[in-house]
Amino acid sequence: MSTDYDIKDLDLAPAGRLRIEWAEREMPVLRHIREQFEREKPRRGVRLSGCLHITTETANLAQTLQAGGADLVLTASNPLSTQDDVAAALVSYNEIPVYGIKGEDGETYYRHIHAALDHAPAITMDDGADLVSTLHKERTELISEVVGGMEETTTGVIRLRAMARDGVLRYPMIAVNDAMTKHFFDNRYGTGQSTMDGVSRSTNVLIAGKTVVVGGYGWCSRGISMRAKGHGANVIITEVDPMRALEAVMDGFRVMPMMEAAPLGDIFITSTGDISVIDRHHFEVMRDGAIVANSGHFNVEINIPALQELAVGPPRRVRPFVDEYALPDGRRINVLAEGRLVNLAAAEGHPSAVMDMSFANQALSAVYILQHADELEPQVYSVPEEIDREIARIKLDAMGVEIDSLTEEQEKYLTSWEAGT
Ligand code: ADE
Repeated sequence: MSTDYDIKDLDLAPAGRLRIEWAEREMPVLRHIREQFEREKPRRGVRLSGCLHITTETANLAQTLQAGGADLVLTASNPLSTQDDVAAALVSYNEIPVYGIKGEDGETYYRHIHAALDHAPAITMDDGADLVSTLHKERTELISEVVGGMEETTTGVIRLRAMARDGVLRYPMIAVNDAMTKHFFDNRYGTGQSTMDGVSRSTNVLIAGKTVVVGGYGWCSRGISMRAKGHGANVIITEVDPMRALEAVMDGFRVMPMMEAAPLGDIFITSTGDISVIDRHHFEVMRDGAIVANSGHFNVEINIPALQELAVGPPRRVRPFVDEYALPDGRRINVLAEGRLVNLAAAEGHPSAVMDMSFANQALSAVYILQHADELEPQVYSVPEEIDREIARIKLDAMGVEIDSLTEEQEKYLTSWEAGT
């Protein structure tokens, strides 16, 4: 067992192992890659530091990378998302140093990130870019050893592109989020299901008949809207992008500014990647009992400090993951999971079947970086299309779904311009 780790309780390991095995059943693509890695060991001895949500799915990715020969450590990518039993199982059974405790404070969170960087990685794997940002700001002495990195999420990719634009990014990054087999499925179906799961588990309120206001209409928000509608909610979308707003309208949703939606909503869910989507002036007009949650990466989408200023005294924890803020006029506003990712804090994150494809992209991108280290510049790259398509192919195969292939005549037709009406 690794002696260097910081987790809640090693005795939770047997429970964690059972749940990791349960997740594995839904991860056939990753299993396929693991078998390939066991044979080929493409990453023998390569040091890898991962800053990801420590979940059963991440455990399966870690085992896959380890099967490929990687020497890896993991740190949490959010203070509330660690599954403590999973962390214990990885330390106990896989000898992977893990740094993450559900509910850790901000100082511990960054101490853990530094511990993962102490591993002196050749490859970084991030979900939200906190590892890469800390490395570039505070641990620059380690950068010369890094060959490349992967980023899992929309917010992280936005941060990396900003670093590349400012000329400060020092090594090549692969934007796993941009793979089609990632964002079409994980962001949409994963976030849709896990967010409604987080809201339901923490509140147990009936969604049917409620007005659910969804902030944003990107891939994650459209998944949430679709699933909220499926539960029977009356869904309102708020957007800043005219194209997305138009799509939301044509998908059958009401679209309006947050200020108009604020007095109408029973449940608010943000997933925009931006700051103060729900702000002081919105709280001022919300209904008594409104429920406010966030599924975007950082806890900045709901302006909780403004709510604290408006409220009479500190919030009351009325249920696990539910903080009730009392306002001077008697209204109560309930914030879920302290405004952090409700799907990971109050539920278990995305189901394994979608993380299967996201993490297949991580595993294969790590190999790609090692194989192409000499050609890659300090820029943000997409996952190569052949990897993306291969993942879709293996997934369909595992699901037992067959598809047609082009006939010679069809292929010719698609590459010619002569034929018309
Ligand atoms: N992000 C969203 N859901 C996740 C999960 N189940 N595991 C790891 N990262 C996630």
